[in-house]
Amino acid sequence: MYAQVMEGLRILEDGIYLDGTFGRGGHARGVLQRLGTGGRLLLMDKDPEAIAVAEHEFGADPRVAIHRGSFTDLAHWSTAQHGLDGVLLDLGVSSPQLDVAGRGFSFGKDGPLDMRMDPDSGESAAQWLARAGEAEIADVLWNYGEERMSRRIARTIVARRAEQPITRTAQLAELVASVMPRGKPGQKEIHPATRSFQAIRIHVNRELSDLEAGLDAAHAALRPGGRLAVISFHSLEDRIVKRFIARHAKAPAGNRRLPAAEDFVPTLRAIGDARKADSTELAGNPRARSAVLRVAEKLGENPAACAGGTR
Ligand SMILES: C[S@@+](CC[C@H](N)C(=O)[O-])C[C@H]1O[C@@H](n2cnc3c(N)ncnc32)[C@H](O)[C@@H]1O
Repeated sequence: MYAQVMEGLRILEDGIYLDGTFGRGGHARGVLQRLGTGGRLLLMDKDPEAIAVAEHEFGADPRVAIHRGSFTDLAHWSTAQHGLDGVLLDLGVSSPQLDVAGRGFSFGKDGPLDMRMDPDSGESAAQWLARAGEAEIADVLWNYGEERMSRRIARTIVARRAEQPITRTAQLAELVASVMPRGKPGQKEIHPATRSFQAIRIHVNRELSDLEAGLDAAHAALRPGGRLAVISFHSLEDRIVKRFIARHAKAPAGNRRLPAAEDFVPTLRAIGDARKADSTELAGNPRARSAVLRVAEKLGENPAACAGGTR
């Protein structure tokens, strides 16, 4: 997927790029290797630990600008106001966020039930679970985790928190596991709390609304010919990216209440189809198994001039 991202972004030596999800800089390093001295790279992440790594590794590079915050705010930064030749959004959580128990993302490691990518913003998972109503919890588990036991889990959370606050990841993982039906013997199963943890994390970090706002902000900031590359990790995100690209690339199907198709001016074109990690990458990084990459190119004033083919 790394090579596919670099190819998709089609990096120009003197171009201006945004990595909106720096993480630990795997993709940023690749972009910098391809940029000349006149190129610029804006690095963003919500996570202060990611930003500390960016400062340490790239803070002295005159081509790099670093900002802590959500990629939804990319238009605030002067580097982005010059127009961008490429935007990369590699969504979801980073390996260090999952692996460090103290961040509270993992059902496999006991830690404080936090799950915030930016620990200085919004409610932690524990704070939200302490105050949310039963129906709200069930909706989050169902909408963001497709958890079939959402109502039963929500009911148990509300009953359990009346006895004792739910503040640890192990407490929540055990509570969810206790209400799930037992799997059939020999059946290979994911951890029973996987879907609930995913759902609560998406909710606490406002991941889907950030994605929608981030796509709009990237679209507005890209120059004609600029490339947008988005890696998503579950179908909810991929659906948003796919529909976003289609909405800007294709005239809507005939409908009396929508503007006529001939008035539609495409502002993006999809570059190839959705791509997945190949077997070599999966062998080295099993977490990439659900990753999907989509790439699109911003069109200019005269879309016909640059809309030849899909590559
Ligand atoms: C999958 S990791 C990125 C890995 C990175 N591409 C690399 O090569 O190391 C996702 C990162 O995006 C950050 N993130 C997620 N949503 C964000 C948002 N709305 N704005 C800024 N950063 C975000 C997370 O904090 C995390 O560090």
